[in-house]
Amino acid sequence: MQHEFVGDPLDIREAIAEIPSVVAAIAARVAGAPVVMVATSFTVGVSYDPPLATIAVQHSSTTWPDLAAAPVLGISVLAEGHAEQTRQLASRDRAQRLVGVPHVDTGSGAVLLDGAHSWLECSVEAVHRAGDHDIVVLRVLRFARDAANAALVWHRPARRLSPR
Ligand SMILES: Cc1cc2nc3c(=O)[nH]c(=O)nc-3n(C[C@H](O)[C@H](O)[C@H](O)COP(=O)(O)O)c2cc1C
Repeated sequence: MQHEFVGDPLDIREAIAEIPSVVAAIAARVAGAPVVMVATSFTVGVSYDPPLATIAVQHSSTTWPDLAAAPVLGISVLAEGHAEQTRQLASRDRAQRLVGVPHVDTGSGAVLLDGAHSWLECSVEAVHRAGDHDIVVLRVLRFARDAANAALVWHRPARRLSPR
């Protein structure tokens, strides 16, 4: 069977957008206001003892430096009920991201979204540069889930790659 391989970084990015992933909302209270960014690069179960997760954050992100300064980050694994809100959570205008999206503060400064599949409170364990992203290793301090909320599965529908 013949497969069409692509090598250009933009083509690879296009192609991998078809691969399903979960979406995590990383949020914390920063200078009195809740700040959030969404990431499909979130992976939990990187290590079980201690429990570690990772996210990959692009160097161009203006939100991450604010979140990185928070002592505890809230991570909400989005549920199917968040499907219509996912793009809003990535709005260019940060103040718009959480409008109409119910969320709660924990005592630690973490911010968690209502109705998520699961919730984690994490601290930043390590940061490793990786190309145009940083791989952020997170220590999972606390974890909760709601078995009634199925995790949102995010991907772009498959389409033919353009002929070379
Ligand atoms: C579904 C989805 C997944 C995303 N995943 C990531 C990710 O894994 N890492 C990342 O750095 N940005 C990711 N982004 C982009 C950020 O959420 C955000 O839009 C970007 O960082 C630009 O905003 P900022 O300058 O406020 O950080 C994703 C956006 C969407 C809509």
